Amino acid sequence: MRKLILFLPFLLFIHCKKQPAPPTGLVTEKAMVVSARVEASRIGSEIMEKGGNAFDAMVATEMALAVAYPFAGNLGGGGFMVYRKQNGEIGGLDYREKAPLSAHKDMYLDSLGNVVPDMSTVGATAVGVPGTVAGVIEVHEKFGSLPLSDILTPVIELAKRGVIVTEKQEKRLENYKERFVKVNGDSTKFASNFKAGDTIKYPELAATLQKIMEQGRDGFYKGEVAQKLADFIQEKGGFITEEDLERYEAKWRQPVVFNYKDIKIISMSPPSSGGVTMNQIFKMMEPYKVSRYGHNSAKSIQLFTEASRRAYADRNYFLGDPDFVDIPLDVLLSDAYLTERMADFSFDKATLSSAVSHGEVEIVESSETTHYSIVDASGNAISATTTLNGGYGSKLYATELGFFLNNEMDDFSSKPGVPNMFGLIGAEANSIAAEKRMLSSMTPTIVEKDGELYMVVGTPGGSTIITAVAQTILNVYEFNFSMQDAVNAPRFHHQWLPDVITFEEEGFTEDLLTELKEKGYRIYAGRNRIIGKVDAVRVLSDGKLEGGADKRGDDTAVGF
Ligand code: DON
Repeated sequence: MRKLILFLPFLLFIHCKKQPAPPTGLVTEKAMVVSARVEASRIGSEIMEKGGNAFDAMVATEMALAVAYPFAGNLGGGGFMVYRKQNGEIGGLDYREKAPLSAHKDMYLDSLGNVVPDMSTVGATAVGVPGTVAGVIEVHEKFGSLPLSDILTPVIELAKRGVIVTEKQEKRLENYKERFVKVNGDSTKFASNFKAGDTIKYPELAATLQKIMEQGRDGFYKGEVAQKLADFIQEKGGFITEEDLERYEAKWRQPVVFNYKDIKIISMSPPSSGGVTMNQIFKMMEPYKVSRYGHNSAKSIQLFTEASRRAYADRNYFLGDPDFVDIPLDVLLSDAYLTERMADFSFDKATLSSAVSHGEVEIVESSETTHYSIVDASGNAISATTTLNGGYGSKLYATELGFFLNNEMDDFSSKPGVPNMFGLIGAEANSIAAEKRMLSSMTPTIVEKDGELYMVVGTPGGSTIITAVAQTILNVYEFNFSMQDAVNAPRFHHQWLPDVITFEEEGFTEDLLTELKEKGYRIYAGRNRIIGKVDAVRVLSDGKLEGGADKRGDDTAVGF
């Protein structure tokens, strides 16, 4: 008895530690969609209520985001999807944009070899061949269970009925208005002043969706839509031809899979850098007792930062489209290599990025991609991130077809050593070539624990995507946060160059920042910075689902 009493606190401690945090987000019994807009989450969830599976819901949600969230949802962009079926089978789909046939390495350089400002970011010259429609059709053909018409009809109705402008959207539309007019002229739909509460209807987009519903991928990549799209882009000075559109294909890829302590992480493989870079970060952190350091403590920030610094240096040098470059993944992901990479790490002082490599660049904040997470009633899970790259992509709006076109060509390295809009400097592996896919940071991720589905996670945020996803997983797994709290928690970011830790404005004390500065870290904690906008699902121990819909946006979880 005395022994028992002595051990009681210890037993209690073990017991408490093992209890997962109670949910604070939306909890549903069976199925859930978490996305950037309530309209899209609702359409996805309703498809599952009607008997559709997570893949049907993916098609519906992706297309509904193109209507309800034109900032990043799209027909004119691309993305990545990772899935885990209820039987444990996993896979990944690459529907990333690619360079047109006429593209070449120096296409954004002037005669002196300098990068031409704006050419890879604004207007028709910035557009890569869109992949989204090929992606959703591929998913539907391989895994869908409902007819395409059942899935797309509610989306088309939404486009016709229109979408109500939120306050956040009002601000975005106002911010971007000048740029819309500059690229499209002042008669463009988005030259108007929209106010919160207004309804924007998309009849042209409804007509394009109708063609896709009737003809599948050919409704977009061939025939009338393809011809109009190619003509429009070329008229505006861009490079995409009907042949480029016809040749586009989404590709199934093996995800990156690795263990971190006792969880298994499944994430996107190249041409996204997300899975590989996150794998490196987690493996460099694995030997440490992270949970003991405490959430967002100086020590846990240091460890995460030093792992990120080293991983991003590798990302920028080695990664690119695997169909064009050999990536030494065996080495980059090996224990021996990663142990060696961290050999010079000490909690006493910062490693300098100049000691890892060299260069100095600026980071630009943004969150213009969008991520959604889905779990269906059978336990199939989908993690998908989709983008136009910048907010409203190239700002070029195909009026007759009803959608914005991407500026994804900027994700290539236009010139080695020159930063892109995310401050990422690339190397030869990510140089431009005809039909090559540009390197991405998108990190749609699924986590397993004890062989069961545990979390579905992802986010927008350009180069900050990888760190935001990794921190969200750590918040749940190491620091025992609920899904919703893990998503809302303040985040920080380091990407090797520039050699600075960026902090969100709220949630980090002056004392903490001073402690880090004293150890040699350069800090940026400026105003209005958000690092990612995470939408996630956690499976609770009773099998129910908890949503984590990021408070930073209009993001919403819907389910049943
Ligand atoms: O693929 C990429 O990494 C970028 N095009 C993602 C852009 C993004 O997340 C924009 N939002 N911040």
